[in-house]
Amino acid sequence: MIETKGVTKVFGNLVAVDNLDMKVKKGAIQGFVGPNGAGKTTTIKMLVGSLRCTSGVAFINGFPAGSKEARKLIGYSPERPPFYSDMTAEDYLIYMARLSGLKSDEAGNRTADLLDWLELTEFSDSKVGGFSAGMKQRMGLAQALVNHPELIILDEPTANLDPTGRMLIIDKLKELNNEHNMTILISSHILPELEQLINAVTLIHKGKSVIEGSMDQVKDGFKQDRYRINTSDNQKVIGLLKAKSYTQEIWLDKNGHIHITCGDAEALQNDCMDIIAKHKLRLRTFDEEMIRLDDIYSQSLEIGGEQ
Ligand SMILES: Nc1ncnc2c1ncn2[C@@H]1O[C@H](COP(=O)(O)OP(=O)(O)OP(=O)(O)O)[C@@H](O)[C@H]1O
Ligand SMILES: [Mg+2]
Repeated sequence: MIETKGVTKVFGNLVAVDNLDMKVKKGAIQGFVGPNGAGKTTTIKMLVGSLRCTSGVAFINGFPAGSKEARKLIGYSPERPPFYSDMTAEDYLIYMARLSGLKSDEAGNRTADLLDWLELTEFSDSKVGGFSAGMKQRMGLAQALVNHPELIILDEPTANLDPTGRMLIIDKLKELNNEHNMTILISSHILPELEQLINAVTLIHKGKSVIEGSMDQVKDGFKQDRYRINTSDNQKVIGLLKAKSYTQEIWLDKNGHIHITCGDAEALQNDCMDIIAKHKLRLRTFDEEMIRLDDIYSQSLEIGGEQ
């Protein structure tokens, strides 16, 4: 649905996006992550056609980014949606729908449906300027959807929202993807929350792509043998496991669980069983820990930072 080749954006002598190759498959919910100033918003603006690339090419479903055909496919919720604060929610959405080419009655129906779906109907006649951050973000999502897009691009749609407001947006995005197979590209800094939603990710740093792929592929690339163990005498187990050559890191968390990274999972498992049997301990937990998006993020940026 999205493909960029060598996309670059230079502002004066700052290279904000640097030779970026990026792909988003149809039907994916892809996270777009990276530190402040990494170039996410600049890339998004080039994809939606509000900024020109200095060099390189970007395509939306095969159409050049910024072309009429490409724009028709995209709904976009910017980092700070520029609302006309004196307009009511209903008037604003009808206006946006008309701008996107809907006829008057279609625009009215679409607006009513979206206000209802985003639980804003009771505020139809209220001015957008007085809306809370959560309501504004929902309006941002609503205006991105007015033209029945196949792809929505959301720049930090849950920033500044309370947990309830964030969950509402996340649930709505899941619904759009599950029920309408909508492709979603979403930038966010809230990684644990993003991880609940996305099935693919692009991580950029200093305008360059560091990692991209499905979450499964990306996680496979970070396989590290990390285990969580809990027994009836964790101090004893730590002491005995520390002496093993395969133990890389071992520490006790605040809940009293042992965390261990090791180069030989089979030996760890065997030794644990021996220790348990020999010292007549009880084994309460022996889990392989899953790698999380924020681990991938911090480890990749260490690699990215050295380049
Ligand atoms: N119009 C502009 N003129 C000059 N520099 C710009 C302009 N827009 C962005 N930049 C610079 O380009 C770089 C990338 O900015 P961008 O907003 O794309 O980052 P980002 O990844 O979206 O960051 P954040 O997570 O803070 O939103 C930054 O150094 C920024 O200061
Ligand atoms: Mg940004």
